[in-house]
Amino acid sequence: MKKIISLILSISVLALLVGCGSKSTVASTDTASSETAAKPKQKLILCTNAEFPPYEYKEGGEYVGIDIECAKLIGEKLNAEIEIMDIAFDSLIPTIMSGKADFAMAGMTVTEDRLKNIDFTHTYQTAVQTIVVPQNSDITSVDDLSDKKIGVQTGTTADIYCSDDFGDEAVERYSKIIDGFQAMKAGKVDACVVDDQVAKAIVAQDGGSFKILSSAYAEEEYAIAVKKGNTELLNKLNNAIDEIKGSGQLLQIVNKYIH
Ligand code: ARG
Repeated sequence: MKKIISLILSISVLALLVGCGSKSTVASTDTASSETAAKPKQKLILCTNAEFPPYEYKEGGEYVGIDIECAKLIGEKLNAEIEIMDIAFDSLIPTIMSGKADFAMAGMTVTEDRLKNIDFTHTYQTAVQTIVVPQNSDITSVDDLSDKKIGVQTGTTADIYCSDDFGDEAVERYSKIIDGFQAMKAGKVDACVVDDQVAKAIVAQDGGSFKILSSAYAEEEYAIAVKKGNTELLNKLNNAIDEIKGSGQLLQIVNKYIH
């Protein structure tokens, strides 16, 4: 009997020890993970121009859109908190160059000229410059645009291409492309040139006054801009873009906004 009791005792002592052992393992993992969580997040300033649905716009006081969601997802991957700086489109590149923001994500097209001043990541979307006209317009393609007034957003590729092709005097520049559409409604401009998905979003929202021409003006690709020579951030962003492209997360975000 004594033997049995001492056996039971030693078993429970053993159980206690094992219990303690496993408990302490759990405790040490806990400490480890809370240490990671406590590691201060880096802050990255994203500059954008939130006048560009479905890529970046404001809804009920919140910044939303494909670029905003991608930037936040990329932020998670980089363990960085994203702070949004909403400025004019033509201020984005100077702001990146001056280092006042870390990166720009604004449906920004990669062009040779822009590459002289900033670096671009891998591309993440394609776009088409599209012509939008009033429903009753007789403009049917880019060839009909000569001698017409064309509304564009200041500093965009639409601005650059239209100024090159039709002359400065043909182009009316607006800080928000929606103002160009209002001017078109009022008969002050004959057409607006803007990125295809933005054209679709604005035309759908307006419900009936405009039509999108099927002939494309120019094809482009969007990428994220960083300060020239900031290869550390560029590489991190490239890895994150490749990851969200490969995992299907980017497509999921795009599908949320573009149907
Ligand atoms: N893709 C065009 C460009 O890079 C227009 C971009 C306008 N973006 C904006 N967020 N307003 O010039």
